[in-house]
Amino acid sequence: MSLRTLSTVVAIAVSVASVKAQDAPQETFPAVPLAEKKFSYPDGIPYQVDTDTNLIRGFQSGYNLCNTTTEGQDSKCQTSFFNSLDDFCLWAPMEPNSAIADTEGEEVAWCTKPGRGTRLIPEGTFTGLQYIKTPDYIQIVGFMDGTKINIKEGDFGGELDPHGADLRGNPMGGLMYSNAFSGGGDNLQQVIEWTNFMGSKSFCFKACDPAGDRQATLCEHKLDRIGCNFNMPNLAQDGVFESCEGESQDPPGVYVENGVTQSFNQPGETEVPNPTYTPRIPVSSNCQTFTSTEIFAALATVKPDPAVIGASSPGSATTSGTGSSSAGGPRPTNSGAPGDSQDAEGSASVLGVNALGIVGALMSMISAMLFV
Ligand SMILES: *[C@@H]1O[C@H](CO)[C@@H](O)[C@H](O)[C@H]1NC(C)=O
Repeated sequence: MSLRTLSTVVAIAVSVASVKAQDAPQETFPAVPLAEKKFSYPDGIPYQVDTDTNLIRGFQSGYNLCNTTTEGQDSKCQTSFFNSLDDFCLWAPMEPNSAIADTEGEEVAWCTKPGRGTRLIPEGTFTGLQYIKTPDYIQIVGFMDGTKINIKEGDFGGELDPHGADLRGNPMGGLMYSNAFSGGGDNLQQVIEWTNFMGSKSFCFKACDPAGDRQATLCEHKLDRIGCNFNMPNLAQDGVFESCEGESQDPPGVYVENGVTQSFNQPGETEVPNPTYTPRIPVSSNCQTFTSTEIFAALATVKPDPAVIGASSPGSATTSGTGSSSAGGPRPTNSGAPGDSQDAEGSASVLGVNALGIVGALMSMISAMLFV
């Protein structure tokens, strides 16, 4: 490094240091990671769960205390539910025509059932859904018109989970509850490990049993750029709405080749991940099929935001779920699969890690000079 470069670096470093001295220091990580914050539903829920100030990603955009006054299509409720085929919420943007990767930190709960203070998913959003309950987790995979829940047309999407690069979660402060592991009804337990890939045409969502000893492994969230096919291998079909039981998957990235168990690791941000293995799709059973009109009757009058591009055009996705499988019925694995090329969590890691990394490097350069 030339002297000139070095002095520029030092000048930048000093100005970074003085900015830091004048303002309260900005930190990346919260005092307590989101995944370690526990709240009983409904009485233990605070207004917001992400209350740290001076963090580089700013403030929680919505709230967790949701009730009849917050319910509606402007709700900023970030308390979410996943119970069954007909009762779940997805994370999606607040404003129409948004990309998931741009809004990962501030998405809100869009639900299929009224009564919990959230937005509702408009009628006709889904064209096929498969719900599976296994000994370790529940999973739902779907085909949809994501524009109806404010996802930009053609968005490859990204991955949401309660960790994120800075451990505040995506969305920041997002909470998840389920009655699927506690016998149903009003006994809603907080889910600690979950992962939700969202794109404009499909989604997949897995929530692990909070009492299960494999929850962190099976709801692993690190392969966030290789989409639903690899993270939640499934046989969901467009045109079919079904609720099944099944065996559990292998942990994301784990596969057997020539009798040897292997593990796929996602490369760094500058490389495109290219997994070549075929993930094992577990056996499912007891599938019951439904029509979307019978399971989503409560959504019949819910319409997309008028600002959604193409919302009023005739011939947009229809609501018929006939129970018969449609032609092709591809799984959400081809182009447009959530997480294939964009990476919600990865963009957070660019923000968090790079900002920290630069300041850290400059600081250590200053110390090196002071102590030489
Ligand atoms: C309803 O939710 C809002 C927003 O979180 C909150 O300000 C209000 O206090 C809540 N009302 C009740 C009765 O809990």
